[in-house]
Amino acid sequence: MKADNLKALDENKDYDSMSTEKLENAMKCSWIGQEIYYFDTLDSTNNQAKMLAESKADNGALVVAEVQTNGRGRRGRAWESPTGSGVWMSLILKPEIEITNASMLTLVMAIAVAKACNENYGMETLIKWPNDIVADGKKICGILTEMSVENNRINHIVIGIGINVNTLDFPSEIEDKATSIYKETKVKIKRAELINAVMEKFEEEYALFMENQNLKKQLETYNRLLANKDKRVRVFEGNCNYTGVARRINEKGELLVEKDNGEQVNVYAGEVSVRGIYGYV
Ligand code: BTN
Repeated sequence: MKADNLKALDENKDYDSMSTEKLENAMKCSWIGQEIYYFDTLDSTNNQAKMLAESKADNGALVVAEVQTNGRGRRGRAWESPTGSGVWMSLILKPEIEITNASMLTLVMAIAVAKACNENYGMETLIKWPNDIVADGKKICGILTEMSVENNRINHIVIGIGINVNTLDFPSEIEDKATSIYKETKVKIKRAELINAVMEKFEEEYALFMENQNLKKQLETYNRLLANKDKRVRVFEGNCNYTGVARRINEKGELLVEKDNGEQVNVYAGEVSVRGIYGYV
């Protein structure tokens, strides 16, 4: 870890330390966080959440770690999760919904994180479809949703959220694409309060989603926050890729892209990656 990060960590230690008790005191949600599993170190909060969901954890249980030794990102990438500098957490859900609708919950969480940052910390974050939260064109938060299905029913869904909070330095491969709340606002916030803010917003957004099991009630909000809106993008699908202009999402959370040949395509999140042509977004 670079010297600046160690300094940030040191100055932040007492002000922003986390424990089960501190997290329980900070949580003001109605159903999320009734069970909190806090760990100083985990390989990945998603891995731990999956195990807990199989054994004893209920809908709404939250797994939080100070550091992850094997944090995982989308498409098999690693997720940097050092001590003291971020929120690394996973929410366990056991919803009675159609399997095909589950992937939209990632977009619901993206709205919650963006709103929590904007409304609580005066930021102007946006969502890079489908679920990266960006500030000033750089990534501040990533979301990894995993699902367990048995006999055509959802056993549980784990939504893993990684938010860069106090990070000052990023590894050179990502330093031009990543930022943190502190870097953007120059304000030190308490991670336990941020966790509560995100989960309070998620409870609101989840209720809207559950009305129709789709994003009908959140279309306007998501499209207002859509960083790719009217931007040129390159869509990578397996071995092929094409360029076009991203317009908006639909009720299923698909990104509507106008290809350069005039054709309109609905891009489904799955294994697709969408990159900005003139930058990260
Ligand atoms: C991405 O943008 O690629 C998704 C990153 C998700 C990272 C979070 S950190 C908490 C949870 N545990 C993990 O191992 N990954 C997610």
